[in-house]
Formats: sequence, structure tokens, C-alpha cells
Amino acid sequence: MRILAIETSCDETAVTFLDISGMLEKPDIKVLGNTLLSQVALHEKYGGVYPNLAKREHEKNLPILLAKTLKEAGHPSTDSTNSPQASSGQVDYIAVTAGPGLEPALWTGITFAKNLGERWNKPVVPVNHMEGHVFSVLYGANEALALPALALLVSGGHTELVHVKDFGNYEILGQTRDDAVGEAFDKAARMLGLPYPGGPEISRLAENSRKRTNEDIIKLPRPMIHSKNLDFSFSGLKTALLYRLKLENGLNNEFKEDMARAFEDAAIEVLVEKTRKALLLLGDKIKTLIVAGGVSANLHLSSELNKLVDEFTGITLRIPARLLTTDNAIMIGIAAFIRLSKEPEISRNQITIRAEGNLSIDSERSRTISSAQ
Ligand code: KG4
Ligand code: ZN
Repeated sequence: MRILAIETSCDETAVTFLDISGMLEKPDIKVLGNTLLSQVALHEKYGGVYPNLAKREHEKNLPILLAKTLKEAGHPSTDSTNSPQASSGQVDYIAVTAGPGLEPALWTGITFAKNLGERWNKPVVPVNHMEGHVFSVLYGANEALALPALALLVSGGHTELVHVKDFGNYEILGQTRDDAVGEAFDKAARMLGLPYPGGPEISRLAENSRKRTNEDIIKLPRPMIHSKNLDFSFSGLKTALLYRLKLENGLNNEFKEDMARAFEDAAIEVLVEKTRKALLLLGDKIKTLIVAGGVSANLHLSSELNKLVDEFTGITLRIPARLLTTDNAIMIGIAAFIRLSKEPEISRNQITIRAEGNLSIDSERSRTISSAQ
């Protein structure tokens, strides 16, 4: 099936045109056209994403990206906004992120998708962004995805351990009680005078420290590491870093590197330890450990998770291709394909889609649909 997918949940505007078919475990995914515009540079001065600015940028960029995507796909109509009918024959479904995310940003994508759906007379499929992150690992994979899986979802907005029982059947086992891990990386980076987004910067400095010395000179706390549940907390770690920085008179480069390493070691040790606990709890039914979301690009995390799966027999680690770790529309198209395969009726019913900032991966799917006629 040919899916035009739209993602606007945060600070990335993305439009993808996919031709996707085959088994859910190992779909054949052809990317016909793919465009993405990151607003990172615009939000940098706020140290995070500023929702109304994100909304304005999405509104401005969506028509441009749609035209570019269709052009890349070799579509005869290069200007889709002026001659939309010409595109409709090529597309079977339109997929759009309905949540979670920033509501003003989500609404721009939803409104755009709905208008397109009306003009082209095509069904619009609402997608859960986190389901997109989970199944981002299907792209470019040689092996079929074995379920049940445990998914560690780590991004700027989320830190969750999810039991992926089957396609469309999820249970959240644990989540952060305060900051998401990516957000903590971003805040820590800001305290160290590093640019946004902070994750890659902290990582780079931490690696310099590891190369320079084997000793971990500074030790920061590992919040909730010994708690019995599978929840996380990262705000205490951030505060501990702040207090430690206050003891210093100016920050030299080596000290910054050591602090970045102390922070990364602490955050990742907590993620890995809770993942271990979840795997032990679920027992031998788990066949795959998925790690996805922006923080899954962290090399220290993937190396520690590789060691973790070696402790268990029969569990494979799956990490998305680098391009798909951060927000993108390819994963939204993949999640729509899965949803359409499990719930074909959503394409036949006329549905009203609404943005849900706090949409949870284990909520009733119908929550994204406020009324069915
Ligand atoms: O999934 P994503 O692109 O957007 C959200 O949905 O939030 O994740 C962005 C987050 C940012 O907080 C960024 O600092 C973090 O992912 N990140 C990293 C790395 N690369 C990106 N965190 C740690 N290490 C990295 N290498
Ligand atoms: Zn995301």
C-alpha cells in the first residue's frame, strides 16, 4: 500500500511517501520520497522547543515538504498545492501523528492531513508517535522482528519501558516520574554551557574523558536504581550536577568532560539496570529488546545494552538506523501500515481525529478518534 505520512509532534516537520507491503515482522518498505526539516537551530536560544514557534514553522513548511516529497517520488505533479488532484491516484492512505507531543504542533499536521484527505478523497489514519518509534526498527532490517519484545523508548519527551506483546498490543511497565532522559541530557548540557540538543554534545565530551583517563573522577547519583518498580527519575541527577558545578570556580575543559561523563554514566546505568529488571520480570518469553527514540543514538547506551542482552539467551537487540532514531515520518508510515493491517475498518469508517498531547501507547486506540459515524 502507498502511504503518505506526516509528522509534526515536536520540532521536526517531516513528510514521507512510502510503498509498504509484506509481513508485519519484516515489511518490504520502499521510500518513494522523504523530506524533513528540523527546527533545532530556531529553538536553540530557548534551550528547548517553543510550541507556538514550532506550530508556525510546521504550517509554513508542510506544503513545501509535501511538494518536494511528491517530486522526489517522481510524481507528475511537482506542485501538489496547486494541482492536488494529480497526486491522489498515487496515494492509498494519509497517515498523521495524533499524539503524544505538543498539541499546537500536532494540530498543524492533523489539519493539513485532513484537508489533503478531503481534497484527494483518501482515508486519514491517526498514528501514535511512540508506536512509530517502536517500529522504526523495521526499516532497513535484514531479520524479521520477533515478538514479544521489550521496548526502551528514550527521547526528549519520553522514557518508557513497554512490553510489546504483539503488533497493536502494548503495556507500559515503567516510565519517568519527572524529566525524560533526553530532556535531562539537554538540561545538563545547558548547565555545562553546551549547545542544544545536548545529548550528542554530552556524549562527545564524555568520550574525551574516557579516552583521557580510566578513572571516573566524579560520581553522580543513580536515582531510583534500587527501587523495586520500573519507573525512572532524572531530575535529581540534574540537581546533583548543578550542586557539583556550584562548587567549582569556573569550568575548564577537562572538568566539563569529566562532568559530562559522570552524567552520562549515571543516566545510562539507570536505563540499563531498569531494562535488566524488566527482562528478568518478563522471563524467557521476550525475544527482542528494542531501544528507540533520540537517545538510542547514544553509543554508550547501545554498547551497554549489547552487553546486557549477552546475559540472556535468545534475546536480540534492535536499534533503529541512525536516520530513524530522531523524529521522522518514515516510522509514522510504518506504524500506519501496522494499524491498517490490524484494524482495516479504520480506513472505511469516517473518523474525526484530534490531537492528544498525552496519548499513551497502551491507551485504547479509539481515544485518538473522538467520533465515528
Ligand atoms: O526522539 P527525539 O528526536 O525527539 C523527541 O521525540 O523528543 O529525541 C531528541 C532527544 C534530545 O533530548 C537529544 O538531546 C537526545 O534525543 N539525543 C541524545 C543523543 N542524540 C540525541 N541523547 C543522548 N545521546 C545522544 N547521542
Ligand atoms: Zn519522538
